[in-house]
Amino acid sequence: MSVLITGGAGYIGSHTCIEMLDAGYDVVVIDNLYNSSEESLRRVEKITGKSVKFYEDDVRDKQALEKVFKENSIDSVIHFAGLKAVGESVKMPIAYYDNNLESTISLIEVMKEFGCKKIVFSSSATVYGVAKEMPLKEGMPTGAINPYGRTKLFIEEILKDLYVSDNTWSIVLLRYFNPIGAHKSGLIGEDPKGIPNNLMPYISQVAVGKLEKLHVFGNDYNTVDGTGVRDYIHVVDLAKGHVKAIDYALKNIGCEAINLGTGKGTSVLELRDAFVKANDVSVPYVIDPRRPGDPDEVYADATKAKQLLGWEAELGVEEMCKDTWRWQSNNPKGYEK
Ligand code: NAD
Ligand code: UD1
Repeated sequence: MSVLITGGAGYIGSHTCIEMLDAGYDVVVIDNLYNSSEESLRRVEKITGKSVKFYEDDVRDKQALEKVFKENSIDSVIHFAGLKAVGESVKMPIAYYDNNLESTISLIEVMKEFGCKKIVFSSSATVYGVAKEMPLKEGMPTGAINPYGRTKLFIEEILKDLYVSDNTWSIVLLRYFNPIGAHKSGLIGEDPKGIPNNLMPYISQVAVGKLEKLHVFGNDYNTVDGTGVRDYIHVVDLAKGHVKAIDYALKNIGCEAINLGTGKGTSVLELRDAFVKANDVSVPYVIDPRRPGDPDEVYADATKAKQLLGWEAELGVEEMCKDTWRWQSNNPKGYEK
């Protein structure tokens, strides 16, 4: 069975390549390397001892996609390719709508042309917008609050409409909570360009000495210690969730939104303290004002994933911290040589 992984050279994509290869799938990747490096795929091959067929192309390019489908017998697709920085999406919304929506539409059209109707899409907990209650359940109202989030929400709607128009499709919308961590080999991990926006890469870059101190965005939230609470999920658990989602899509038709989270919340200071303890490193911090738009708490109800996919997260915060640090300390410059 062959799976096409768009954006497969990226952070979550590269970890998912490993789990798909280990589960016995042949893996074909299309990625324009806008936010990644081909080195990640070489390392995937090193870890698994298996090869990945790679196309350096843009998913918006229908001719390139047609070539991929002509040259490979693709049974299913995992669609990661997209732009993902919230702040950047506010500054350049059209680039986000163009890249994220256009790539999905081209992909769907070419999949249809080749009779491949099984797709797993990278959605996000951001589609719940400003939720009134926790934990977040799939049936709760949606509503995004920034252009990035709207691209995710619109794509979910497009895929739902597609299923209504043709109920022979099988579509799984995976709503990720906060992926962190790295493969235990220390060979692949998150390699953000420039100064990280997200908490865990910021903590690990302080620990490695690239950044001076962590800026904790607010300590007056209505949470256990006043700092923001999120549902951090190990990227390897997340990747395994994709194997289960593809297994499910191959056996069922329908369109399902499914949370991939642990169901447990961790505060900013709890995560910082866990990182210091797990790795015996120093992570100095200061308390700064709140970052606009950040909610107090976000965590998943993860029961649907267990019921439908037979998946649940296994790795805890300690492993997330240890594995992040192994990657960061072995590769202080990421994939850069
Ligand atoms: P990433 O940037 O590491 O990976 C995305 C990959 O897609 C990159 O390799 C990039 O080069 C590629 N890409 C982007 N546009 C492309 C295009 N038009 N054609 C071909 N390739 C293209 O990001 P990630 O963290 O691995 O995220 C993967 C997906 O999961 C994204 O869709 C993201 O929005 C979604 N997601 C991520 C998070 C997170 O916190 N990392 C949370 C929720 C959802
Ligand atoms: C971010 C995205 C969200 C995406 C999610 C998944 C933003 C605004 N939101 O969410 O769309 O779905 O990632 O990964 O980028 N924090 C600090 N200092 C820092 C960085 C973060 O204190 O330097 C705090 C934040 O205030 C928050 C927590 O750490 O309380 C987590 O932040 P972050 O890693 O950016 O993730 P989210 O904001 O949850």
